Amino acid sequence: MKILITGERGQLGNELRRCLETMGAEIGPIPDVYSDAEVDYVDYHTLDISDADAVNAWYTEHGPYDLTINCAAITNVDGCEQDEAAALHVNAIGAENMARAAQACDGKIVCLSTDYVFPGVSSVPLVEDDPIAPISAYGRTKWEGEVLTSAACDKSFIVRTAWLYGYVGKNFVKTMLHLARENGKISVVNDQLGNPTSANDLAYEILKIAATSNYGTYHCTNNGTCSWFDFACAIVDAAGIDCEKEGLSSAEYKERFPQSADRPAYSSLENAHLAATIGDEMRPWQEALATYMQRLPELDD
Ligand SMILES: NC(=O)c1ccc[n+]([C@@H]2O[C@H](COP(=O)([O-])OP(=O)(O)OC[C@H]3O[C@@H](n4cnc5c(N)ncnc54)[C@H](OP(=O)(O)O)[C@@H]3O)[C@@H](O)[C@H]2O)c1
Repeated sequence: MKILITGERGQLGNELRRCLETMGAEIGPIPDVYSDAEVDYVDYHTLDISDADAVNAWYTEHGPYDLTINCAAITNVDGCEQDEAAALHVNAIGAENMARAAQACDGKIVCLSTDYVFPGVSSVPLVEDDPIAPISAYGRTKWEGEVLTSAACDKSFIVRTAWLYGYVGKNFVKTMLHLARENGKISVVNDQLGNPTSANDLAYEILKIAATSNYGTYHCTNNGTCSWFDFACAIVDAAGIDCEKEGLSSAEYKERFPQSADRPAYSSLENAHLAATIGDEMRPWQEALATYMQRLPELDD
């Protein structure tokens, strides 16, 4: 089997590599079908996914690929709000370029998407076919990426995840640890609810999903719902840091940071398609975070 993984330097790209190189993840072994996989890893410096000619040339030279996992994206939610055109170029056009190239070699593609495609008006966990209505540029561009990917490639899996943290790269967990240690205080929004998700657990489920032919859209997050404030408190408590913890409403946060993008008040996802097909093996978010906090000192970049 030949696989192409984009966004190799990102959080998820690094965990996919870790899983494929060790044939295992924290929550279990990955399917045997990957044991002889030949994997190419690329990032912005080797392949700009928004450049269709470069993508086609890459597939011609290095393909065909049985599976493409497109982890490349512009993920800075506030940055996308400042320059939606640039975000669209990568998150939507780039996604379509990859899907077209996968289709041309009759391969499968996994396109990552986000809970931010939802408007945040629900009060119960969202399933895959709940109404889409993004309220941020990031959400709009990722939704466009979903639509274009599904249209361009017959063998596409759309995997929506949320609040991701991996061992390599920047994320909310590392930011909270840094702020708590440096400032002795964290100020975090307490009225936006979602699902913190381990990139290692997500990598495991992606590899399981991609080994099937059950194409379509999947939600894949660690189980359980909390606020960013709950998540932050769990992080600093697990690290044993004694600091001041301030909860902020979204309105208070917006007053302090007027340029910040709007985020859904409620975007907790239910892994309904997973549960109905290969099974939902994602752990409660607290368990995944506990493992991460134990391993972080050894694996942090
Ligand atoms: N992070 C989250 O909380 C979260 C939540 C929901 C969904 N997701 C989705 O999950 C996926 C993986 O997220 P992640 O956290 O692993 O992202 P990440 O750490 O930000 O990694 C994304 C990678 O894509 C690369 N990239 C950006 N523009 C590119 C381009 N034009 N061509 C090729 N590579 C490019 C980035 O390179 P540079 O660093 O050099 O720009 C980076 O290495 C993304 O699709 C994201 O939208 C993430």
